[in-house]
Order: sequence, then C-alpha cells, then structure tokens
Amino acid sequence: MKIICTENYEKMSQCASKIVLNELKKKRCLLGLATGSTPEGLYFELAKAYREKRADFSNVTTVNLDEYVSLPPEHEESYRYFMEKHLFEKIEIDRARTHLPSGIGEPFSECEKYDRLLRDLGRIDLQILGLGLNGHIGFNEPSDFFEKDTHVVSLSESTIEANSRFFQNREEVPRRAITMGIRPIMQAKKVLILVSGKKKAEIAKRAFLGEVTPQVPASILQLHPNAIVIGDRDALSGIMA
Ligand code: F6R
Repeated sequence: MKIICTENYEKMSQCASKIVLNELKKKRCLLGLATGSTPEGLYFELAKAYREKRADFSNVTTVNLDEYVSLPPEHEESYRYFMEKHLFEKIEIDRARTHLPSGIGEPFSECEKYDRLLRDLGRIDLQILGLGLNGHIGFNEPSDFFEKDTHVVSLSESTIEANSRFFQNREEVPRRAITMGIRPIMQAKKVLILVSGKKKAEIAKRAFLGEVTPQVPASILQLHPNAIVIGDRDALSGIMA
C-alpha cells in the first residue's frame, strides 16, 4: 500500500486527479466512483480538466459503489443526483455508460442485477474510495465478515449520524442502502483511497496500519496489490507522526 501525504484537501484532490487523468488516456477505462464530501474536489478537478480539453471521457464507463434504498434518481440526496451534479453534468459522458445501483425497485433483485452488470463489465480499472468514520468503504459497514457481493445493508448509527448533515434532519436519512461488495473492489486493478480532515485521522490509522479485520472494512485494502492512499496532513497525522 502506497501512502501519499499532501498539504491540504486541494492538493489531495489535484494529486488524485492526475492519477485518474492518466487512467483516462487508456483505450478503455472502467472507473469505479464514490460519493460523499471527500471526492468532490477530485470531481471538480476532473470537470476542470474536461473544460480545458485535458480530459476525454468518451472511452469511460463508470460504476458507483452504492445508492440509498428508496431514493429515486431525482431526489437531491440520491447518489445518482450527486454524480450528475458533481461530475456527469459537467463533462460529456454517455449516460448509458454510467451505472449506479437503483434505489427504487426491489432491493434484493437490484443487488443481483448489479452483480450481473459488474461481472459483464469485467475488472474495474481504477476504483475511487472514501473512508467512513467507522472504517466503511462503499457502504460495507463493520461486520463479523467481509461481504463479497452486492448487498442490502442496514446503515450503522454512526453512518446515519454522519450522513444526516446532508438531509433536513436525521429521520430523513434512509436506513438501508445497496452497496457493491468487497470482491469487485479487491479485484480492481488499482484503488485510490482519499482521506481528508482531522476527524478521519484515528480511523485512517486503524484502517491502514492496524489489524486487517471486517470490523474495519477498509483494512482489507492493505492486502490489495495496487492501493494508493492519498490523504491530507490532518487525516494522516496519526500515520505520519
Ligand atoms: C459513498 C461512499 C462512502 C463514503 C464515506 C465517506 O459512495 O462510498 O463510503 O466514501 O462515507 O464519506 P465522506 O467523504 O462524506 O466523509
């Protein structure tokens, strides 16, 4: 696992965008995307690169990690909406090549459908990840085992609390989500984990220096052959100190 420490959030995002832009130059690129506050700066940089004609998304297919159960794509807090707002609307990309689990429809059959899609698409070339305060990746929450395939997850209290900042109140946060499992993440050719801010320092230390355990799902990334953590100084203060 390679760990890159940057001065601040902006530099973290710029460093990540260089790696993504390099990946886009390849003939075919299957890009795994994450939502949340952390990758917003990266998406800003990618949209900027597109405007400046330094990025071309015509060879890109995207797969997102997760979606809330019950939120339709037009809901402002759905992850489809997030992706439209922060990236897809700002670049030219064929929507038929942008995939997220569907929050509507029967959740268990949506999981099967998403796994079929992931199998058909093949290995992800570059998977972008954020890190949850409890060590989750996608919505793979702390558990007694690593869940390999796409599954419906009951969000932990800590995740509901953390994500309530995006909703009017805590009650509005959906209690369930559909998330990609650990298998496609671990099979990705490269993973890029972004971490920012002091509040992530403790979990970053546990995830990247601690024991590999499903209680800290991101810890499994220590076993990935091509994992790069890019964190700002605050988030890596427990690791670099
Ligand atoms: C969302 C996702 C989550 C977030 C994590 C951190 O698609 O994959 O695992 O990356 O909850 O969220 P932020 O970046 O908001 O701290």
